[in-house]
Amino acid sequence: MLRELLQNAQQQPLKSGVALWRGDITTLDCDVIVNAANGSLLGGGGVDGAIHRAAGPQLLAECQTLHGCRAGEAKITFGYNLPARYVIHTVGPVYAGKVSQRLELADCYRNSLNLAKEYHLHSIAFPAISTGAYGYPVEEAARVALLTVTQWLNDNPDYAMKIILTCYNSAVYKAYQELIDAAKRGELT
Ligand code: APR
Repeated sequence: MLRELLQNAQQQPLKSGVALWRGDITTLDCDVIVNAANGSLLGGGGVDGAIHRAAGPQLLAECQTLHGCRAGEAKITFGYNLPARYVIHTVGPVYAGKVSQRLELADCYRNSLNLAKEYHLHSIAFPAISTGAYGYPVEEAARVALLTVTQWLNDNPDYAMKIILTCYNSAVYKAYQELIDAAKRGELT
């Protein structure tokens, strides 16, 4: 399945597709970067802390007007001092080994993409949501992420969207690369 999804995704308008990128998401000059936040939307550690530090205090001030965010939901703010114009805040599941959490994690990616489309944005960067403090196993989280974003591109064939999956550590990069390689060999259903 992933192989077909990736092949179809590559056939989308030239501006659509999925790319891996290694580095700090706060440095990316794209339309929107996604924050792996917590339910309060009032900042934290990890990528949440990095985004708030780079965006500056106005980001927190706008987040305070949003009254939190449920797991799987997505809310949007301006990017302020970030190169990215917007930040989409989403809350991943805290890993507890339940199969239902795959759906919640998939909702984070899908709802963020839908919100970006609603705002007519065409380039979006994701961190590996839930794979840090929230303890989601990297391989499984990468599979959910890749399947969800490629499915979204196939469900939105007429909308140009460049999706950047950022890898801040080698474990995440390796997990994504292995999935993509396996899909290209037709070894992933
Ligand atoms: N750029 C890109 N990715 C990053 C960056 C960065 N600057 N900093 C961290 N990451 C990566 C981590 O390496 C991990 O792969 O983001 C992924 C998600 O890790 P966390 O930031 O810990 O997010 P998560 O696991 O979803 O936990 C969210 O942690 O920081 C708090 O407020 C946050 O309570 C929330 C929880």
